[in-house]
Amino acid sequence: MTVPFLFILIETSMANNKKSFSALKFSGGNLLVLDQTLLPNKVRYLQLKNYREVIEAIKQLRIRGAPLIGVAGAYGLALESKRISSNIRTHLKKVSYEIKDARPTAVNLSWAIERLVKIVSNPEISDSKLSSKLISEAKRIDFEERTHSHMIGKIGAKLIKNNATILTICNTGWLATPGIGTALGVIYTAYQQGKKIKVYVPETRPLLQGARLTAFELTQAKIPYTLITDSTVASIMKKTDIVLVGADRIARNGDTANKIGTLSLAIIADYYKVPFYVVAPLSSFDLTKRTGTEIPIEERNKNEIIYIHKQLIAPKTANIYNPAFDITPNKLITGIITNKGIILPPFIKNINKYFQ
Ligand code: MRU
Repeated sequence: MTVPFLFILIETSMANNKKSFSALKFSGGNLLVLDQTLLPNKVRYLQLKNYREVIEAIKQLRIRGAPLIGVAGAYGLALESKRISSNIRTHLKKVSYEIKDARPTAVNLSWAIERLVKIVSNPEISDSKLSSKLISEAKRIDFEERTHSHMIGKIGAKLIKNNATILTICNTGWLATPGIGTALGVIYTAYQQGKKIKVYVPETRPLLQGARLTAFELTQAKIPYTLITDSTVASIMKKTDIVLVGADRIARNGDTANKIGTLSLAIIADYYKVPFYVVAPLSSFDLTKRTGTEIPIEERNKNEIIYIHKQLIAPKTANIYNPAFDITPNKLITGIITNKGIILPPFIKNINKYFQ
């Protein structure tokens, strides 16, 4: 894949590389992101110079994970405010729609953009102050999400017993959020507390976020894990103590959109009576959606299924259905671990309490 307008800043081979990384950094007016499509083989940082490059990076999953794309989108809009000088507010509102459309399921993206749009719409802020206000707000969202993931880690780690075997899906760690992560953040915190844990990591077809990203993170952190194919989940569920998954959008009744395959984990966990927890900041809730059926599900390109690393693995003419997410109904969810506490059923009533 060609990268037309992204500036390659740093590139290193992963072999022998022990340093710790950050998925996104805004410093000196520059937005640097780790290109996650290259992991675990290469660590390459890209400097994104304008909102179009941010949109490209979000669409291609160079930056991914619900909280992280929210933060990246916010910086994208803030960067655009620095670049233009006339018709600023009309232009920024138009750009805000384009950014929100980059990925439709994760509510964090539109939630973060809406926070900036409120500033754009505020007549009390002069045009000359707009850019600095937008940058400050993007930084505030970045900081809040970072702090929230640490709070989630602490709250969730209480549920993890010593010697626990944990099953997760996709990638929900520092590659998916500005902080330590959501489901993986709980795992990191429990491990740092000295608990012995084991993690099952499904590959997460088609884009292999489990194999490429979660396995990469857990290797770096030296947390014991076993990589499995997605179809192995049912056979290891009996040996699992708890399932922890992230969320891209949670409806008012607790129905949760998350990476495709999450629903299978929930159904199998229910069959084996294994507790199934969703782990997410409050920014992942969308109270305008009454149930999961109202959540838009992103469908992605068929090539993600028929090719692996440019190698054709199925007939080019195959009919393909490639939804990036599925909806887990609330009745399969034991609880939702958030930055404010653990929400238990009945979800409609208890979620409402968290937002009063
Ligand atoms: O398509 P992706 O890789 O962005 O999907 C990510 C997930 O589904 C995560 O579980 C979710 O965004 C929560 S991230 C903390």
